[in-house]
Amino acid sequence: MLERLQKVLANHQVASRRKCETLILEGRVKVNGNIVTELGTKVSLSDHIEVDGKKIIKQAFTYVLMNKPRGVISSVSDDKGRKTVFDLLSKEDQESRLYPVGRLDYDTAGILLMTNDGAFMQKMTHPKHQIDKVYRTICQGIITRDAVKKLKTGVSIGGKHIVKGVDVRVLERRIPMKTSYVEIVLIDGKYHQVKEMFASVGFPVVKLTRVKYAFLDLEGVKRGFYRYLKVHEVKKLFGYQFKHR
Ligand code: URA
Repeated sequence: MLERLQKVLANHQVASRRKCETLILEGRVKVNGNIVTELGTKVSLSDHIEVDGKKIIKQAFTYVLMNKPRGVISSVSDDKGRKTVFDLLSKEDQESRLYPVGRLDYDTAGILLMTNDGAFMQKMTHPKHQIDKVYRTICQGIITRDAVKKLKTGVSIGGKHIVKGVDVRVLERRIPMKTSYVEIVLIDGKYHQVKEMFASVGFPVVKLTRVKYAFLDLEGVKRGFYRYLKVHEVKKLFGYQFKHR
């Protein structure tokens, strides 16, 4: 597949897209031994690319970390015409056919990974590979210690699954507002799991945000934007497994 040189450079963490364009214009980028100063140049992954004489080790796939806003659906298209996470990608990343790794509800915000690497997708979503995800919730009511204990020891959702949080922490109880701020860490990812768990203990979720995915957080990524995962982050995710205490 051919891709624009500046995209390939940015994708390999050489610099931001804009900075990569400058590097090309400054004649600091070589493709197969020739200096390229044309911004529209298309390259393939088999091309030998150098920046300031240093070879770029290429990644065959694209991995992005998006800060998904509320009111956006986690799929590539929607039959009801709602905005999708695909719409938030640049045209070039749309052409790379990135798919969301798992899903976040329409009204849930936060970390969503997207990739075109099927093996990565499988690894991240298979229950055998234990990936911890941290959710920050605002729930209705002043959550009790008993409810927190139940969320930690296991509750039944959908009448068939017993699920639990590997950690549950109350961040704040806002007594005048009659709301609580609670963080829950989950390994599994059943449909509407956080909402169902909180509803089952009597404290329905009013706002939900995924703030961590394994060791990744939202630092530096504004709501509605995304960044590329770094090569070492992808490598680490492939070998990642949550360690129970
Ligand atoms: N649990 C939910 O209820 N919703 C999400 O979007 C993610 C986890």
